[in-house]
Amino acid sequence: MKSEMFGQIPHWYALATIAYLVAAVLFILALRGLSSQETAKRGNIYGIVGMAIAMGATLSFRGADFHPLLIGSIVVAVVIGAVMATRVGMTQMPELVALLHSFVGIAAVLVGFSLQLHLGVFLPMAEKIEIYIDVIIGAITTTGSILAFLKLRGSVSGKPLLLPARHFLNLAMLAAIVVLGVLYGQKSELWKLGAAAAIACFLGVHLVAAIGGADMPVVVSMLNSYSGWTAAAAGFMLHNDLLIITGALVGSSGAILSYIMCKAMNRSIWNVIFGGFGAAPPPSAAKPAQPAGDVQEIDAKELATKLKEAKNVIIVPGFGMAAARAQHAVREMTDVLRKQGVNVRFAIHPVAGRLPGHMNVLLAEANVPYDIVLEMDEINADFPNTDVAIVIGANDIVNPAAEEDPTSPIAGMPVLQVWKSKLVIVNKRSRGAGYAGIDNPLFYKPATKMLFGDSKVAIEKVVSELKS
Ligand code: TAP
Repeated sequence: MKSEMFGQIPHWYALATIAYLVAAVLFILALRGLSSQETAKRGNIYGIVGMAIAMGATLSFRGADFHPLLIGSIVVAVVIGAVMATRVGMTQMPELVALLHSFVGIAAVLVGFSLQLHLGVFLPMAEKIEIYIDVIIGAITTTGSILAFLKLRGSVSGKPLLLPARHFLNLAMLAAIVVLGVLYGQKSELWKLGAAAAIACFLGVHLVAAIGGADMPVVVSMLNSYSGWTAAAAGFMLHNDLLIITGALVGSSGAILSYIMCKAMNRSIWNVIFGGFGAAPPPSAAKPAQPAGDVQEIDAKELATKLKEAKNVIIVPGFGMAAARAQHAVREMTDVLRKQGVNVRFAIHPVAGRLPGHMNVLLAEANVPYDIVLEMDEINADFPNTDVAIVIGANDIVNPAAEEDPTSPIAGMPVLQVWKSKLVIVNKRSRGAGYAGIDNPLFYKPATKMLFGDSKVAIEKVVSELKS
């Protein structure tokens, strides 16, 4: 009986199902690999191979009605993707990710509508639910991601749009979507799906518009999660197991990442999603950052002398290192110091830069050994025993106000306690504020000296002084 049943399954279907299973395992291995620097490259390769297998299997599923237009569009998409990936700078990565999420959303909405048009009012209840959920989350993801992309790109102001009674408006839209959903469940007519999708599109815009620019990376991570759940819903609609598994992986990893980011900023996820920090800053944040004291300067020559005398050095990289592309100069400085017997380590804050793992990627690209790159929790207690802490283009993540000033907008955010070192060097171009737009009392502490200038230029000067 069993063999008879299997005998009815076409070979191509069985093979494609096995291929999907292999691809799913490769995607899980890819996520596992991407969780640490040592295995990240391998993880990436697993992901690429898994995707190639998945695409091959999906094409074979199409069987007889396979269309050359499909191959043409895949080739064009692969070329566009490859060109975008090579051209995009690390600092533009969040906006690229936001844009890509909108594609997932659009795809899900189109699949939902095409099934609706194809099957119309004869849809079974399970499919009605799948289509409806898929289209709603897809529409929210699409418009929310496009707005996040425009905000991150600077094409739209990063200021939160706070309409009066905005929470009420959100609830009203949600209620309308639920009512339309019930009506759609009774009779699946196109206008109901269309109306709900239009409301969801507006909801996506409104939710993201209400969030301030400072919270945008968390929003992008949340949208990443939404795009995963949309893909999973599309998988149920299309009876595609791989899409369900991949969607669930993306959905849950995006949600976990958002949680980790919020924890690192000492924020609640609800506070971010419904507008907190970015939307309603405490009074002190409303004031533009004002320098609150005098700073002491240091030049490359004097710093090189201090470094030669040091035994323990901790380097804290931040967004400025990425903006200046200074990671190779920083690695060279590390090499020179290590050759001279100095214990050099890196302290990485979980939200340093503009995206999770930003600093780790740059340091890995510059071939900094992994074993001297430590997470905040591993190294924060070591600052009191450190001779020189060098802050390279970082600001908020080393701001003592987070611990010392309860009225600060970043109060409670865990920070790297560089000010506990014997000497703190802060390299940046000016006394200007960082991402949170607030002044940094670190600059005015007695043990702090400012090394002004673009990080790449400044650190290269230090390297040549160290070598001379
Ligand atoms: P920021 O606080 O943004 O400070 C970066 C500093 O780099 C700026 O003050 C800037 O000062 C300096 N800089 C810019 N270009 C430079 C250059 N070419 N050479 C030297 N310095 C340069 O960065 P951070 O300390 O890395 O903190 C990250 C911020 O982003 C936090 O507020 C965090 O909450 C936020 N954020 C991060 C994430 C993730 S996941 N990483 C997500 C959401 C939000 P000058 O203009 O004076 O040079």
